[in-house]
Amino acid sequence: MENTISAALPLLRQACHVTVLTGAGVSAESGVPTFRDVLTGLWARYEAEDLATAAAFERDPALVWGWYEWRRSLVLRVQPNPAHRAIAAMAARVKLSVVTQNVDDLHERAGSTGVIHVHGSLHTPRCFACATPWHYPAGIPDEPEGGRRLAPPPCPRCGEPIRPGVVWFGESLPTAAWQAAQQAVRDCDVLLSVGTSSLVYPAAQLPFDAAREGKTVIQINPSATHVDAVAQLSIAGKAGEVLPHLLGAWA
Ligand code: OAD
Repeated sequence: MENTISAALPLLRQACHVTVLTGAGVSAESGVPTFRDVLTGLWARYEAEDLATAAAFERDPALVWGWYEWRRSLVLRVQPNPAHRAIAAMAARVKLSVVTQNVDDLHERAGSTGVIHVHGSLHTPRCFACATPWHYPAGIPDEPEGGRRLAPPPCPRCGEPIRPGVVWFGESLPTAAWQAAQQAVRDCDVLLSVGTSSLVYPAAQLPFDAAREGKTVIQINPSATHVDAVAQLSIAGKAGEVLPHLLGAWA
């Protein structure tokens, strides 16, 4: 790991614009389970992919809304970790864009601004039918350990159920966020892909687009991914350890 970190430094120091693409691995060290972690409690017999669809919500809105409320309560209770803080601090060293697949707000709470959320946010629910935005009551929901079924609130405008503000499987990414993410890849010299399995398209294509356009791709992930094929460097380690190390040695 030390060797690859040393090799990454000159690439970062030469860059005018770095785009960081983050996935669930960046929030893992805050205590947010990654998407592909096994579900527990009420959801133990489901795969996350089976709950994160419009069809699942239509079939059983209380199951899906309960799952997202449980995730939201978990996210509200945890704190940004050294990886989020190191990414925020990088903005003082280089022009930085942050593109995240995460639906939490831990980058923002660590101090990053202008974060591009290509998969939406747990904190911006809207009506399932008419898309009117809805606002959660203040405070942290008191979710029981194993979670619970919970009927979604009705839309005050049309009475249809409120849905989470995240992108579900089979849905298009929000146009403005996706265009901004693609632009951030076109504009950068270095694409840093951190803590993502790079399995879910179209977000997973961004490192491949970057490589095709001649950008330097650096990956930080304890496990191998398809991005290894195009990364100039793959740093095998945890984001919360590698990123502070990189930042400390960057100056
Ligand atoms: P995944 O859960 O697919 O992958 C998490 C990645 O993080 C894996 O490659 C792990 O090896 C890595 N990882 C785990 N701990 C880490 C650590 N401490 N530091 C660095 N890396 C670590 O999550 P995503 O790639 O974000 O989409 O998943 C992409 C999308 O798939 C999600 O946004 C979600 C899901 O379906 C939607 O909901 C639309």
